[in-house]
Amino acid sequence: MKPGPRYTPLVESLPATVPFVGPEAQERSRGRPFKARLGANENVFGPSPRAVAAMEAAAREVWMYGDSASHALRAALAGELGVPPGNILVGEGIDGLLGSLVRLTVGPGDPVVTSAGAYPTFTYHVAGYGGSVVSVPYRDDHENPAALIAAAAETGAKLVYIANPDNPMGTWHGPAQIRAMIEAVPDGTLLVLDEAYIEFAPRGTAPTIDPEDPRVIRLRTFSKAYGMAGARVGYAIGAAPLIAAFDKVRNHFGMSRIGQAGALAALGDADHLSEVQAAVSVARGRIAETAAANGLTTLPSAANFVAIDCGRDGAFSTRVLEELGALDVFVRKPFVAPEDRCIRVSAGTPEMLDLFERTLPLALAAARGG
Ligand SMILES: Cc1ncc(COP(=O)(O)O)c(C=O)c1O
Repeated sequence: MKPGPRYTPLVESLPATVPFVGPEAQERSRGRPFKARLGANENVFGPSPRAVAAMEAAAREVWMYGDSASHALRAALAGELGVPPGNILVGEGIDGLLGSLVRLTVGPGDPVVTSAGAYPTFTYHVAGYGGSVVSVPYRDDHENPAALIAAAAETGAKLVYIANPDNPMGTWHGPAQIRAMIEAVPDGTLLVLDEAYIEFAPRGTAPTIDPEDPRVIRLRTFSKAYGMAGARVGYAIGAAPLIAAFDKVRNHFGMSRIGQAGALAALGDADHLSEVQAAVSVARGRIAETAAANGLTTLPSAANFVAIDCGRDGAFSTRVLEELGALDVFVRKPFVAPEDRCIRVSAGTPEMLDLFERTLPLALAAARGG
């Protein structure tokens, strides 16, 4: 027998992939830092000063584990959302919650449905539990609710995933379309509604959903509008039996004490949230202006990033992305055609967007010449 661990046949079969190469890893291989970090849809405007103060105070108590039930944060979210605490689960970001959800529901060979080129962490987890991913194409740069539901019905999918607003395109569906999607969810399928960017969407985009509706689970995060991506705090809203089932598989002490304290304080600072929403809206406008000044169009966005249509194929937009990287501007782009004709630029500070404005024409010229 060979020395070393004996992996499961499933793990042996998986390719050695990471869903994203993080900016730090890219900086290490480039040998220098980026000057404008506009690729990871982080919130450059940062957390509420109240959250920072709470996290500083919590740092002194960090010898203690965090509350495994995240009781105070869960209660505050319940108050904020007007739903009972039993319908809320706090977890290590949406990514962590997706992992637990997939572990709860997907076994080897079980089908799940998502959009081709949608946020990839979901399918990464599905692969890790041996599920089978059925992908449907976007339609007109939007995820396609009717096609997602049809594919779920056809395959008997355990889960059907949609992000609203969507990443990587930033497009969105209104509440009536999401409600219609819930009404059409086939028996035995759970709709996973990823609302990571919902605070940036037009008011009223999030539909009212009965928290006890067993057909849907909503996922939200403190990583985006609350500016706390590094703290890893997200939450799920779902029917009480589903929320309770997570206790069978979740990482009970996965929530850091510091993250819980920060999120609780952030939730209490509505003014800061409004300031961030306004700053993101200005930045989206600025990205669109820069694109237009270079003869490019942008997609309307309800998120904290903008997809710029580079006007040619995916190979061309990849060259634009690489040239921007060479000029120290980190952006990302969609993976799948025809959406991959775009680059995706996150809302930045005015200084970062100044650099983007100076470098985009150079990157486009280099990409055209290359
Ligand atoms: C659609 C979507 N869902 C989830 C996440 C990750 O959220 P979290 O930081 O809470 O894990 C992202 C981050 O980019 C995202 O784009």
